Amino acid sequence: MTFPDELGNLNQEVQQLSQNNWQELEKKLFLQTIKRAPVTLVRGKGAQAWDDRGREYLDFTAGWATNSLGHCPPVVVEALEKQARTLIHTSSQFYTVPQLELAQLLVEHSCLDRVFFCNSGAEANEGAVKLARRYGKLRLNGAYEVITTYNSFHGRTLAMTAATGQSKFQEPYTPLPIGFLNVEYDNIEAIQRTTSEKTCAVVLEPIQAEGGVNIPDDDYLQKVQSWCREKGILLILDEVQTGAGRTGTLFAYEQYGVEPDVMALAKGLGSGVPIGAFLAKEQCSVFSPGEHGSTFGGNPLVCAAAYAAMKYMIDHNIPAQAKRVGNYFLTKLEGLKQQFDFITDVRGRGLLIAVEFNQEIGDKLLLACLNRGLLVNRLKPNALRFMPPLIITEKEVDEALGILGDVLGETKTTKGKSKNAK
Ligand SMILES: Cc1ncc(COP(=O)(O)O)c(C=O)c1O
Repeated sequence: MTFPDELGNLNQEVQQLSQNNWQELEKKLFLQTIKRAPVTLVRGKGAQAWDDRGREYLDFTAGWATNSLGHCPPVVVEALEKQARTLIHTSSQFYTVPQLELAQLLVEHSCLDRVFFCNSGAEANEGAVKLARRYGKLRLNGAYEVITTYNSFHGRTLAMTAATGQSKFQEPYTPLPIGFLNVEYDNIEAIQRTTSEKTCAVVLEPIQAEGGVNIPDDDYLQKVQSWCREKGILLILDEVQTGAGRTGTLFAYEQYGVEPDVMALAKGLGSGVPIGAFLAKEQCSVFSPGEHGSTFGGNPLVCAAAYAAMKYMIDHNIPAQAKRVGNYFLTKLEGLKQQFDFITDVRGRGLLIAVEFNQEIGDKLLLACLNRGLLVNRLKPNALRFMPPLIITEKEVDEALGILGDVLGETKTTKGKSKNAK
């Protein structure tokens, strides 16, 4: 067993856990919506995680870009403990302090004026689109169509499946809700051609995350913002993955010189605690009481945790750290690209990074990394994604690069090889 002492009587706990075959149980009990990596995680601390057999891993997935401060960050644990002893949940019928504190923090540190709290990224986007439709009804003669992009990812509700411009997510569920038009990303003309008197908003990720870590031209968002302003329609930025420091600034829009009218957040906002939010400029504050809501949204427990996470992130300038370490990581990955000619691309911002290959070796690499104690994400059949916690150090990045370098060196490919292989 390799657990650190401070994890207490975990060894005993782990022995009991290992007696169960969790992975078989999952096959029997769950609707099969995901192909999981063959590992059952039971503990985490910072950038490390441990499985039910006591094996230690370096976690470069961070709960899909969510554990921004790492596993079980003390500030979040303390906030949860304190709030759990004080007030866990009330309905939104009543005022509660943690959600007001969090709202104030987000408004003070963004270009937006008002907040609605929910529970996930899909809900945040869904609410943002509902706000745009309400805006369309009240201010744009009933306009209701929303332009989104191919290769985007906005969530799994039916409406967000229609917004998500990827046929593999859409086809199993057709017919989809109407009013979503998918166009090419990083192409202003595509948005201009598709805009009509029925359009109320454009929804974009500043960097397409799930769709491939696709980074648009520097002026794309500015062009889209100008177009939206000219037409009087809303620019909604889905910062569910890019927000909360992930790309090196608190929100990715700051790097592109734009200000969205509406912004969706989730993932890193709670550093592992499930919370979503959408924020809006004052001029699009068009909801009336009763027009939108959520039972759990803005619940004191999650808001106290998210407040603690975001306050820590702001006070310690964690986004700048993510930028510095991210640049270091990218430079080193470029080095690997020079070494292995089957790496075709290395791209990213901050700690949202992808490495692409000239063949479909993503699954194989993921397993090989896992076997050596590194958790990574297979972004596409031919690409890996790295989204470690934002508190990751250069030393931990070096450790991950060591494993990745070994794995790549052992990878038998059909279209390329290590440049220094014999
Ligand atoms: C940009 C973006 N939007 C929305 C979502 C959906 O978030 P959730 O899974 O919390 O509903 C994701 C999830 O990966 C995402 O990356």
